Parts: sequence; C-alpha cells; structure tokens
Amino acid sequence: MTNIFVIKKKINSFHKKIAKVSGDKSLSIRWVLLASLAKGRSRSYNLLTSDDVKASINAIKKFGIKVKLKKDFCEIHGKGLDGYKYKKNIVINAKNSGTLGRLILGLLVNSNEKIKIIGDKSLSKRDFKRVADPLKKFGAKLKLKNNKNLPLNILGTKNLRPINYHENRGSAQCKSSIIFAGLRTEGTTIIKAKKSRNHTELMCKYLKLPIILSSKKNYDLIKVRKAKKINSFNYHVPSDISSASFFIVLTCLTKNSSLTIKNVNINQSRIGLVIILKKMGVKIILKNKRLYKGELIADIFVKSSKNLKSINCPINLNSSAIDEFLLIFLVAAKAKGVSFFRNLGELDQKESPRLKWGSKILNLIGIKNIVNKSSIKIFGNPYINIKKKIVIKNYLKDHRIFMSSAIAALTFGGEWQIHDKDSINTSFPNFLKILKEMQK
Ligand code: S3P
Repeated sequence: MTNIFVIKKKINSFHKKIAKVSGDKSLSIRWVLLASLAKGRSRSYNLLTSDDVKASINAIKKFGIKVKLKKDFCEIHGKGLDGYKYKKNIVINAKNSGTLGRLILGLLVNSNEKIKIIGDKSLSKRDFKRVADPLKKFGAKLKLKNNKNLPLNILGTKNLRPINYHENRGSAQCKSSIIFAGLRTEGTTIIKAKKSRNHTELMCKYLKLPIILSSKKNYDLIKVRKAKKINSFNYHVPSDISSASFFIVLTCLTKNSSLTIKNVNINQSRIGLVIILKKMGVKIILKNKRLYKGELIADIFVKSSKNLKSINCPINLNSSAIDEFLLIFLVAAKAKGVSFFRNLGELDQKESPRLKWGSKILNLIGIKNIVNKSSIKIFGNPYINIKKKIVIKNYLKDHRIFMSSAIAALTFGGEWQIHDKDSINTSFPNFLKILKEMQK
C-alpha cells in the first residue's frame, strides 16, 4: 500500500457528530507509567493505542511489569513503587515519543542498573539536556550523546536528594519528569514551573500522592514528597483535544458546516486553540461540562465562520496551544488581516522544527509570512483558493505536519501529495478513518 496520501478535491459542507476521537496521548502515557508503579491491577478504557503509547507499554514490560492490551481495555499489573526489576543491558526504545523518553527518566532515578534510552531519527535530534540537568541534581547519573541528545544512559542512586528547580521553558515533559523523581525522593522537591499542561499533577492528586499545588498568575508552584504507595486505579481516558483540533479547524475552514465532538478533555492548560479561534471569530461552544478524576471533559460544538479575523496572539496562550500552531496558522491564512504570533521558540523543539514547517506550508499555499527568530507574521487571504500541485515530504515524519497538511488540502483546494501517511500512527491512528466519515 502506498504511503502517500493524495487529495484532489475540497471537502463539501457538512453537519456531523464525532462520537469518539482517540484517547488523549498525554493522559494515556501518564496512566501507563503510573499504573506500572501501582500495587495490583489497573485497567483503562479508551487508551490511545498509538505507537507512542505502545512504546510506553513496551518500556514498562522491560522492567518485568505485565500488561494485557485487549481491543476494549488495557490492564497493567503493577508491583508497587519498588516493583521494577532492573536487569543488565536494558534498552528502552522511546521511538518518536518525547513524553515517554523524558517522563520515564524521572522514574529511573533510583535504578540500580544502567538503562539506555534510544529513539527514532526525530527524537534523536531533540533536547534531552533540559531533563537530564535537573535529574542529575537529584543524584542520578546521566550520559547523553553530545551532552544533549539520545542515545542516553541513566544510572540511578539510592541516595537521592530533593531539589529546588525553576522550570522556565513551560515544558510539561520536564516538569513531569521532575515530579516523578520527586515521588521517589525523601524530603520535599520544589518546582517553580512556567505554566504548561498539568495532567501529571492532577493524576497524582487524584491518586492522593504527596503533592501540593499552588497556581500563581504566571507560574505554578509544586511541592512533591516521596510516595509510600500508589493504589491501582481504573481510568477512562478522555478524548484528545489535540486530535479533535484537526476536525475543529476542518469545520471552521469549510463553509456552512458544523460539528460536535463528544467527550473531549478540555483541561484549561490544553484549550489554547479554542480560545484563539474564538478570538478569531469562530463559534465554539463547550457543552455538557463535567469533571472526571480531576480532568474537565466536554462536548465541543463548532460552526464555520464567514468572517475570520486576524489575531495578535497573546503569548500567555502559547503553552496551552503548543501542539496546535500548525492548524492555527492555517486559520490565520484565511483570516482577514495580518496575524502575529510571538515567543514560539519551543515549536522548533518538537518532532520537527514546526515553526519553520509552518512557514514553509504557508509559502507553498501562497500565503505571505515573515518569520523573525521565534515570531511569525501571517498575511491572511479570506479568498484563498489553491489551484496548483503541492508535495509535502521529508518532514521527519512529524504526525502533526501530515494531518495539518491534509486539513489544508481539504479546505484550500489544489492537488496535494502528502508523504509518510503512516506518521499518523504516532498519535492518531484513526485520523484517516474519521476523515473519510467526514467526507461521506
Ligand atoms: C507533552 C508536553 C508538550 C507537548 C507534547 C506532549 C506531554 O511537550 O508538546 O506533545 O504530554 O507532557 P513539552 O513538554 O516539550 O512542551
């Protein structure tokens, strides 16, 4: 089967409901890791079974944890906080997953064998120093390629020291890794963290682990102590707002259309896209809000808008929209006026340099844009209508580039060839199936 996705026609207007986009990736990986340290059998439903999550399951299996992955549920038989068996020469392949690669390091700070972490071509280019530095302060030994990248080796210690750390990038992966290490360390670890997604904190709180959270205006203060026990826990993974976002944007860029997506996680630290699109004139309603084990869930209703407005995007929304900027740039491409996005340096730290790719895609579709260091100005064209042939390839198999390009193709026209279709398996294996349903 060819690995190139060809789109030659725009999608027709639609009024649809999506009962289920796939389970949230961040929550799925956190559930796998925490359930692996719980005592007894934990079960999850709607776990995302993408490559990133399967890599997480394979990782905990290497430490002797038994996992049953069935069609409708996943069961993990945790052996408690000290239940990992460290054999010689264990290699963890985090594949494409920064979340797995970084979070698991926090759990390995007390390992008594050296463990090697490897990843695919994209992950091997990414910065692991940002997480190795704080973990070294706990007393663990980490050795990285070029002092920055994978492969890396970690060897833990029984003499962990709590740390006081200022996480100033707004990286939830770094913050979570430090929280995990703090849960293994006597004394109080204190993290002053620039705002970022807070799923780890909420899950730890739900599990009644010794964590204290206080939210300040521009940062969060987190205090963690050594956990004594994690009780096994069942979890229905809510749907992923980052996956839902492709269809939200598909709707707002298709005339006379509307869409409802059920049961989506609308954690405040994740809904930047919704807030930004509302500011740009899109009608979005979050219905039927409810709390589930610390996370807020809702059904999302979105309607296409005739008059998209440009935005001068407030930088305090960057973190909560961090995985959605490729899509937001497409909306800015069709908005009236010039949009401006600043402080997006972290985008170039993702699976591919996404700020560069965002600009490249805009150039390909004929939208003037100016990138200056970490900011981008986008000169929107409400009448955008592409006629030419566009090829998207060599993008380090970044799943979000594939899926955003598909949305551009279906809404702006032209004849597109998007390579590396299998990149969707990283985060959203059902993407093309749902897209097909939308086109019926
Ligand atoms: C994630 C955090 C974010 C995000 C990634 C998932 C997580 O990365 O981009 O897709 O689950 O903690 P950073 O921590 O690098 O910002």
